[in-house]
Amino acid sequence: MKGIILAGGNGTRLRPLTLVTSKQLLPVYDRPMIFYPLQTLVSAGIRNILIIVAPDRAGDYLRVLGSGKEFGVKFTYEIQERPEGLAQAFIIGETFIGQDSVTMILGDNLFFDEQGQIRTAVKSFTSGGQVFAKQVVDPQRYGVVEFNEQMVATAITEKPTAPRSSYAVTGLYIYDSQAVGFAKSLKPSARGELEITDLNNRYLERGQLEVQLFTGDWLDTGTFDALLQANVITAERARRRA
Ligand code: DAU
Repeated sequence: MKGIILAGGNGTRLRPLTLVTSKQLLPVYDRPMIFYPLQTLVSAGIRNILIIVAPDRAGDYLRVLGSGKEFGVKFTYEIQERPEGLAQAFIIGETFIGQDSVTMILGDNLFFDEQGQIRTAVKSFTSGGQVFAKQVVDPQRYGVVEFNEQMVATAITEKPTAPRSSYAVTGLYIYDSQAVGFAKSLKPSARGELEITDLNNRYLERGQLEVQLFTGDWLDTGTFDALLQANVITAERARRRA
């Protein structure tokens, strides 16, 4: 299993903070944000990790993360020239992925996985696609998944104006190597992006997507309030551990 951390984009929603550096390097309590998704991958036993960054921030990432030796892993870096969608990561990562399976995590997503659900999913993954859903109060901000009575996923819609459920698809995706071909077959959406939701739907159409409910806490730090909440939660957790 290989890993990808997607840490590109312009961070426009968090300006002026993101004039200083990339959003995914902003502080979350006592460390740069990207350390959390990195820890999620490392805890799942993933050692070979591709970090995808925006061109003007590559130097910052190298300085902060280096080769990976310090974390007991090996980093490869790739540049995403423009933020043309989450699914583009699998095209950029084609050579890196090869014939292997891959877990991609968004560099601004924090998973507090006390029960080791992600590690278990990664370890037991064989083929197809696997994502995690979490109930949220503002589903229209996310990819939204609908379930039938047996809690089997039936549809995923990206940022629906009238969400048909309150289950958001979180920013961690486990795929087999079909993801590369599926990503290449996608057409840009109305907002000009290769949507991860469309990639998930490729798997779903084939009956190959498993959607599990995430039992831990999950935060997408894409807004000022969410970033503040992430700082508070991580500080409280650190204090409880001390
Ligand atoms: O957080 C989970 C959500 O992430 C999912 O529920 C949605 O289905 C998915 O589309 C995504 O929604 P966001 O609105 O959060 O995506 P955003 O454009 O904010 O991008 C998420 C992160 O990925 C962000 O840290 C920037 C980075 N990114 C984004 C794009 C579009 C890239 O590195 N490259 C890109 O091309």
